[in-house]
Order: sequence, then C-alpha cells, then structure tokens
Amino acid sequence: MAAQAQRLLVDIHTHVYLPRYASFLRARASAPRIFTRSTPQGKNEERLLILDGEPSEGRPVGPQYWDREEKLRFMDKHAIDISVVSSANPWLDFLPAATAHSLASELNVDLETYCSTSPKVTGEVLSRLYGFGLLPLVPEVTVPSLVETVQQIASLPHLKGIIMGTRGIGKGLDDDTLDPVWSAIEKAGLVVFLHPHYGVDAKAWGEKENGHVLPLALGFPFETTIATTRMILAGVFDRFPNLKVLLAHSGGALPQLSSRLASCIDHDPAVASRLEHDARYYLGRLYFDAVAYGAEELGFVSDVIGRAGKYAQRGSSAAASKDGGVGQRKSGSSRMLFGTDHPFFPPLSETAKWKSVVENLEAIDGVYGWGEAEKQAVRGGNALALFGLQST
Ligand code: URA
Ligand code: ZN
Repeated sequence: MAAQAQRLLVDIHTHVYLPRYASFLRARASAPRIFTRSTPQGKNEERLLILDGEPSEGRPVGPQYWDREEKLRFMDKHAIDISVVSSANPWLDFLPAATAHSLASELNVDLETYCSTSPKVTGEVLSRLYGFGLLPLVPEVTVPSLVETVQQIASLPHLKGIIMGTRGIGKGLDDDTLDPVWSAIEKAGLVVFLHPHYGVDAKAWGEKENGHVLPLALGFPFETTIATTRMILAGVFDRFPNLKVLLAHSGGALPQLSSRLASCIDHDPAVASRLEHDARYYLGRLYFDAVAYGAEELGFVSDVIGRAGKYAQRGSSAAASKDGGVGQRKSGSSRMLFGTDHPFFPPLSETAKWKSVVENLEAIDGVYGWGEAEKQAVRGGNALALFGLQST
C-alpha cells in the first residue's frame, strides 16, 4: 500500500437519509416520519421520529442527514479522507415487501451516484465516498428477490457492503431461510454491517424517564449482541466461513460476555453439538467498529479478538500469553475500524469539532499496547483492506 494511503482516515460508521428516503419519510403520518413544526420564534423546523417510544417531538433533523455537501464538509472538518456511508435506521423495515424491494433498488442506485460523483482523495484514485447498500429485509419478501438485490449491490462499483438490521425477514438473523442470502453475500465479497434499531424496552427494570440514554447507550448495543450471538448459535459462521460481518458499536456487550457465552454453551450439549468451535473463536472472525468512546474499551475488545485463535477447539483451555497479552492486543486491532456515527450525536452548541468524533479518535490514540502501526490501521488501513479499496 502506498505510504500516503497508510495515513488515510476512513470512517466506516457514518449515515445518510438519501433525499428519496427523506421524501418518503416526509409523506408518512406515523413513525418513522419527518414532520414540520413551528418553533416558538415562529419559524418552521423539521423533526425526525424514528425510535419506538421516542418522545413525540422527535429530534431535530436537517441537511446534515441528506445533503452530500454537508457530509463532505463534516469530513473536511475532521480530516476524514474517506467515508463508507450507510443508510440510517430503520431502513426499509416498516414497508410492505413490494415497496421495500423497489425502494431498495432505487436507493442503491442513488447511493452509487452519491458516491461515484464525489471528489477523489487528493493524489489518489480512491473516491472520498463509498457505501453500504440496502436489502428489502421485511416479512413476505422472497429469498430470490433478496439474492437479486445482493447481486445489484455487487454490480455497483462504489457499494462495498450491505447495512442490515437485526430482524431479518421477521424471524431474526438466525433464520435458516436466509442461507441463500448469506451465500450470495459471501460469494460477492460484500461486507455486512450489522446495526441496531429496536434496542431493549425503554421501561425494562424501571420506570423513570431518561431520554435517549438507556435505549441508545444500552439497548442498541445489546440488540447487536443478541443478534450476533444468534448468528453464532445458528452456525451461520460455520456454514459461511468467508462471510464478513462488521458489528456496530464495537460489538456491544459480546466481547465482555463471550467467555460466559462459551461456558453456557458447554453446559448445554444440544446447542454445543451444533457448533464447530468454542464461542470465543467466532469473535476472531468478526470485525468491530471502534465506536466505543474509550481507550480501555477498545483495548479490551482487541484483547478478546486477538485471543480468539486459541479457542478453535471447543473445550480448549488457553494458555496465558508469554508477553502479557501485548501480542494478542496488537493482533486484535486488525479487525477494528474507526467510525463516527455521523450525523447522530451532533454537538449541542457550535464547536470546531464534534465531541463524539474527537473522543473516538482520542480513544484509538490512547490504547495501551497499540503502536503507531496498529493505531493507523484502525484509523484507516484496516478499512482499505476489508473493503478492497485499492490505492494508487
Ligand atoms: N441514533 C439512531 O437512531 N441511530 C444511530 O445510528 C445512532 C443514534
Ligand atoms: Zn449508527
């Protein structure tokens, strides 16, 4: 890889509501929707209402959600060279199958145009924008039509993967009916970006109102944790060993819970007999964004990924590393990738840079045991390799 490319900053967790999708949301009378209300100053403002149980006034929404120039300005402000952009939740989940299918195809072409007409990275053949396409993952869609959409995405040169929620076609991602879809994605070499939307009931284990904090901080990552665990337990990673799955929010609680998961599986022979490997092994097959906001958390995730190879056999007990785990921590970093979650978590007042972005960059910089090579790989090199982005 050219020396310049090794220094690129690549954001793999960054969203858009494409103009066609935003118009669609504006035409709706119930969530998910975009609606206009007047402010106390007598101006009109648009609001976005997408989450179940979200306060009815929703959240402010504006051009940073759909205008490509705003995305590029945000990238410039934070020295981000390349973004791999994905449609934001709730994707097409709420639509009937026929509408979801046609809208997915149209939005995939829109996203290709959004990316292919973007500027290039200075001095590079690389574009500044690439994307994750959409599948019409809704109940009653036919599997052949999903496979057809995978093939459409694979044929669009700037689309390098597929963003996916956790519902599948109504029965989750551990639904065996999806096998032809995983197979087509694996064959096409596309990256699945697994992202939450539904979270956990906002009223679970208490009643106090805490705004968006519990659903976003805990509910979102826990949803990803469960969906990924279900894929592991259903043997998806055994049947599709080359399937590339990238987990949002550093895999949620999965790294922290993976040894407990392995132990529970070992004590349930019916489940254990379904799997080729110890549960911890599969974490070394996944990719994790680095959207965790803390150096210690990133270090821990990389430890867990880095040790996974020791658990290829179920029942294997891993010897402690002779180097105190530094080698493991370094090797785990090769599956972690910088992200911002833009345009969510905007600063509450005008600032030079977004706190959410600065925190994630500082976290990468602060991981104990990562050298400059590992940090730079997490900032961009791993993304170039994972998405097959060839520099000059
Ligand atoms: N809120 C959302 O609804 N989606 C995100 O991706 C982040 C915050
Ligand atoms: Zn996100």
